[in-house]
Amino acid sequence: MRTTVGIIGAGPAGLLLARLLHNAGIDSVVLESRDRAYVEHRQRAGILEQGTIDVLRAAGAGERMDREGLEHDGIELRFDRRRHRVDFPALTGGRSVMVYAQTEVCKDLIALQLKEGGPLLFEAEALAVEGAETDRPSIRFRHEGREDVLECDYVVGCDGFWGVARKAIPASLSQVFERTYPFGWLGILADVPPSHDELIYARHDRGFALLSMRSPSVSRLYLQVSADTDAGTWSDEQIWDELERRLETDDDWTLRRGPITQKSVTPMRSYVHEPMRHGRLFLAGDAAHIVPPTGAKGLNLAVGDVVTFARALVHQKETGSAELLDAYSANCLRRVWQAERFSYDMTTMLHRDPDATPFDLRLQLARLDRISSCRAAETDLALGYTGFPLD
Ligand code: FAD
Ligand code: DHB
Repeated sequence: MRTTVGIIGAGPAGLLLARLLHNAGIDSVVLESRDRAYVEHRQRAGILEQGTIDVLRAAGAGERMDREGLEHDGIELRFDRRRHRVDFPALTGGRSVMVYAQTEVCKDLIALQLKEGGPLLFEAEALAVEGAETDRPSIRFRHEGREDVLECDYVVGCDGFWGVARKAIPASLSQVFERTYPFGWLGILADVPPSHDELIYARHDRGFALLSMRSPSVSRLYLQVSADTDAGTWSDEQIWDELERRLETDDDWTLRRGPITQKSVTPMRSYVHEPMRHGRLFLAGDAAHIVPPTGAKGLNLAVGDVVTFARALVHQKETGSAELLDAYSANCLRRVWQAERFSYDMTTMLHRDPDATPFDLRLQLARLDRISSCRAAETDLALGYTGFPLD
């Protein structure tokens, strides 16, 4: 099999890239190791930045998002039993975010790809990327019990943190920057209308809590837990009790409880692999970098990478100049590091580190106090949350 761009992975990065290339008249093949149902139902991100919303619309993939997504103009910070609302449009010149789950973004892009785009093969596992330094890189993969080779002009590794693409970059050329956190998130889905119309990020002495949502009738909530927690050891009642404690305020706000339909624990890490390109192999999304989820940057960064790659390839086709492809890694990494910084700041400001000293805890409160009393500090948070520009 032969194509212009071989894409490994049908997460948001790989699927959106295939769509952008299709719209630009460039052919691609997507290889995805899992089946379609798995990709469409894996619970993950929920928040789309303004730039991501704009890209999905421009790619012709925003129709259902515009119908069913929930536009949010702010978030609430909770600390010391107080609440502080951050008003995004007022602070950023009109920017906002959208609650529209990653599962739905993937469903929309898969439907479009199967209807209009090039091949998207499920249960096709990439085994290795070969010849990245040559003009003819290829992907060795297994599909329907057979090994095959996809010959390409370019390979884009959109295969997430555990994928194979990154391994094709020689260790002597790789630099890894990494931090793991001594806690994780226990995430739940519950059949109950959200208890607030915007997201609530809560810092509490017992640990972080987040109230989010998937629709007007489905809540998504997270609790900071220790990294080795088995989600099954938390009963539904324990989860609601703990959420209630951490979200408590001095006014009459109450948390609505309902049946929990899903529970899982996510570890938290910051990770960046440099460079994001080796020869004709490009890494995009979680294959190259991970942020801790506080602040909802992961999916949005993946979108930024593939937009950058698609623009660079179109530029190369139109002008013959590889200038933007050559600048791909540096251009992406600038945005990646801003998101790493933002996610680190949000994480360390809001979570209870088991080794924190009383001094550290007071500093967390001082950072939150600063945001709620200084417009410049609040604006910085609002700009970071609604997203760093794509160009
Ligand atoms: P992935 O979604 O991981 O997709 C990679 C794909 O490659 C997968 O489908 C995988 O099956 C496939 N694959 C792997 N190996 C191979 C192989 N060898 N061959 C073929 N295919 C392969 N981000 C946000 O922006 N906002 C949020 O609110 C947010 N919340 C999150 C909450 C949780 C609980 C978690 C876990 C993550 C959250 N994130 C959030 C992060 C976000 O989900 C990821 O950053 C995003 O999925 C990255 O997309 P991707 O396409 O790069 O990688
Ligand atoms: C969600 C996830 C996040 O990481 C976040 O910061 C906000 C919302 C969510 O899954 O809804």
